Amino acid sequence: MTGELSPIDKAKFVAAKRAAEMVEDGMRVGLGTGSTAAWLVRCLGEMVREDGLKITGVPTSARTAELAREVGIEVITLDEARWLDLTIDGADEFDGDLNLIKGGGGALLQEKIVATASDQMVVIADKAKEVEMLGAFPLPIEVIPFGWQTSQALVEETLISMDVMGRSSTLRMNGASPYVTDEGNHILDLHLNRIGNPRQLALVLNQIPGVVENGLFIDICDTVVIGYGDGKVEVRDINEGTIETDRIDFVETDNLFADLGE
Ligand code: A5P
Repeated sequence: MTGELSPIDKAKFVAAKRAAEMVEDGMRVGLGTGSTAAWLVRCLGEMVREDGLKITGVPTSARTAELAREVGIEVITLDEARWLDLTIDGADEFDGDLNLIKGGGGALLQEKIVATASDQMVVIADKAKEVEMLGAFPLPIEVIPFGWQTSQALVEETLISMDVMGRSSTLRMNGASPYVTDEGNHILDLHLNRIGNPRQLALVLNQIPGVVENGLFIDICDTVVIGYGDGKVEVRDINEGTIETDRIDFVETDNLFADLGE
């Protein structure tokens, strides 16, 4: 069954599988959104069902909540949990300081709230997500629907004085209609190509009325687990300054692939 996975999916899977090993009994775990995070949720579900792992999960989107329940993870709200031991999520880009671009899947707002409310954030990603400098991936920002075009104009004007290499933006669409987030907002994707000062940009964007949050995660991520198509994984801990490599065996987890819905 695993033979049908592309190398990139294998890379995502092994990163997720390795990160799942960091989850311990009794933990309150933030569950990310996206294709890599979906692997994590499946791995954790298997550990709950087959190994008796006892955890509660706080999902970062309606679709992650649905998957988590489906695989047997007890789901609670962030308000019920208040604070989390660990959040594991994907990313669209990460740099050498483990600063991230997130929100390609449209869930950046809940993702940032949940990750910030966690003792530790672990990012799971395939090697292709690693960049020297953030910005090739369009930076998502969440804007409220009221006056979104005015907010867009203000954002583009603000970008003139920022260290970026482009300032056009597009409203994310879902077919013929604007994409609507779980919080009822829209997403603008900023085509910046290169972000020279992500910390400054993250602060400035959030000052613009109508902008709810941006997809730059600065000083939030502690560890990245990088997956490779051949089963290799690399675990980089920014606080400890350590890098460990490991290898994940596909065979033992074959049943995870049996009901692949996506
Ligand atoms: C969801 O809003 C995003 O932040 C995802 O975490 C990010 O887009 C990574 O998604 P994939 O794991 O599908 O690449």
